[in-house]
Amino acid sequence: MGNDAMIAEEARDHFIKSFGGEPTLVVSAAGRVNLIGEHVDYNGGEALPIAIQRRTAVAIRRHDGAATTRINSGGTGGVLTLDHARLARKRKWTDYPAGVLDQLIGAGIEVPGIEVAVASDVPSGSGLSSSAALEVAFGFAVRSLLGLPPERVALALLCQQAERQFVGVPCGAMDQLSAACGERGHALYMHFDPATVRPVPFTESVLIVDTAVPRSLRVSAYSERVDECAAALAAIRVVDPAVPSLAAASMEQLAAATMDPIVRRRARHVISECGRVRAVVDALAAGRRFPGELAVASHESLRDDYACSSAELDWIVEYALRAPGVTGARLTGAGWGGCAVVFGEPGALEALQHPLIRDYEQAMGHKARAWLVTADDGARVEAGGGASG
Ligand code: GLA
Repeated sequence: MGNDAMIAEEARDHFIKSFGGEPTLVVSAAGRVNLIGEHVDYNGGEALPIAIQRRTAVAIRRHDGAATTRINSGGTGGVLTLDHARLARKRKWTDYPAGVLDQLIGAGIEVPGIEVAVASDVPSGSGLSSSAALEVAFGFAVRSLLGLPPERVALALLCQQAERQFVGVPCGAMDQLSAACGERGHALYMHFDPATVRPVPFTESVLIVDTAVPRSLRVSAYSERVDECAAALAAIRVVDPAVPSLAAASMEQLAAATMDPIVRRRARHVISECGRVRAVVDALAAGRRFPGELAVASHESLRDDYACSSAELDWIVEYALRAPGVTGARLTGAGWGGCAVVFGEPGALEALQHPLIRDYEQAMGHKARAWLVTADDGARVEAGGGASG
């Protein structure tokens, strides 16, 4: 049995243990790794992530009681209850489904009483978007159960709002769009103003390396960057009030605006990164392999201008780039720990894993994990139902 099928099966097992009997439907959504286009989604820019073979599965069935969600807590059969009339943030993992319920109900969807079991192999806290996979899998499960079309982009944006408004993280839409819209064999060329997703053929394997460093700073530093980017846009609009987003500004407009030097560097990253995304998409469209040098340029910009790398991420990128057959490497996701992504010949990526993990532990004192992945599907029905698209 493939890994994907195992996660769906695990959700079904949890369901049977928690509620007795079979779920009506099992669905899943994917974690993601971003190939290029970092910290641009909340600036109206462009990015190119892929959904990966790490998934969160949700098994679901209606119950006849009051409008509550009964949800399994782990594989023990224990159940937590979320009252749809009184959804409140609890600062635990159920905030993600609760936030999505809050949005669905707010959008006028009458969500009846449901029983839900979750299983996942998306590592949490590593920057592979386990929270987006959970939000999207849950929202997709509810919509599918109610016979509503998935409306993937709208669902992703609703899940993003759940994370912003209910969970309290000011994220962009990249992670939720990846979890919802992924396509096997394709990278997802995303624009964020407004949100659109165009699949671009991409069949390369990439290596994800997790620094295994706790990400305590990530949320506060992320919010600080969001504010700095807003300050940069405000300064550019003094020069040209018509600029729609920071990503849409030109280097000339940036040069003409007056702002704090640190804020200027953040803006320079955002504007230059979008140019790199377009160059990668052009190369792939022309049938070329991922241009590794653009990944390296992205990493340098994130490290020097956006200041969201870490000693561990820099170590991994530099180590990977010394290996024969490796063409590029960069931090991926928010940064400040989390994961790096490495590009190159499949044999080279395979051969890199073991020595990298060994030498990283010796040099940095953390046990890295690595996964070789290809582009996979986003949200999909695994069993039952019959909803698709
Ligand atoms: C996190 C956020 C995304 C995006 C990335 C950085 O993953 O959730 O919205 O901003 O960081 O590109």
